[in-house]
Amino acid sequence: METSVSRVERSKEDARSSYNRLSRWYDALSGSSEKKYRDQGLEKLSAHSGERILEIGFGTGHCLVTLARTVGLAGRVIGLDISDGMLAVSTKRLEDEGLKDNVDLHIGDAADLSFLTSQSVDGVFMSFTLELFDTPEIPLVLAECKRVLKPGGRIVVVAMAKQSPPGVAVRIYEWFHAHFEAYADCRPILPRMMLEQAGFNVRDVSESVMWGLPVEIVLAGK
Ligand SMILES: C[S@@+](CC[C@H](N)C(=O)[O-])C[C@H]1O[C@@H](n2cnc3c(N)ncnc32)[C@H](O)[C@@H]1O
Repeated sequence: METSVSRVERSKEDARSSYNRLSRWYDALSGSSEKKYRDQGLEKLSAHSGERILEIGFGTGHCLVTLARTVGLAGRVIGLDISDGMLAVSTKRLEDEGLKDNVDLHIGDAADLSFLTSQSVDGVFMSFTLELFDTPEIPLVLAECKRVLKPGGRIVVVAMAKQSPPGVAVRIYEWFHAHFEAYADCRPILPRMMLEQAGFNVRDVSESVMWGLPVEIVLAGK
């Protein structure tokens, strides 16, 4: 079984600057191709009225809108992103949709969720974000997710995945990531295995393909 995952060398400051620059163009560049997978992830999370849901790496805020409508005023959506450019775009979207009062947005690094108390959220959602963390950091991010989830809470991860053996598209992408990390900041990871190693119970996995690259949508429980 394939268990090696490429490293991510760039600093958090570089990640922040890069997403700040990208924030105004992100939807035009990748929003529509990723939408299908984000929506499948939201469906798997199956949030409902009154719940508290954390989204990590909310980007331009499309999932925040869906989640805020679903949990309603009796619930709460909490968003965390490293980029203040993304925060500005998402805030505007939530204002336009009349949903700003249902959502608390924070700027920060998801390796540290200390702004949230333990066992305080019903669900965690992450799409195309876990694969941006360096390999030794992924268990730290997932441990923080587990800490803030209530007993019986659930997490959905949508991520580019590395199958066994890796296909040609994955090998090309990894080469590109290794040589041009400023342009290909993420890389395929092992979402299911990483969630299991973090002590989650994997309940459901869907496999898809985006531009020839495998995508996994994993639902797991605490
Ligand atoms: C590839 S985008 C995905 C955005 C959104 N989830 C989507 O599916 O459209 C990754 C997002 O994660 C954010 N991000 C990157 N590193 C982060 C970190 N260390 N902590 C929190 N957010 C981070 C970026 O600013 C960006 O908004």
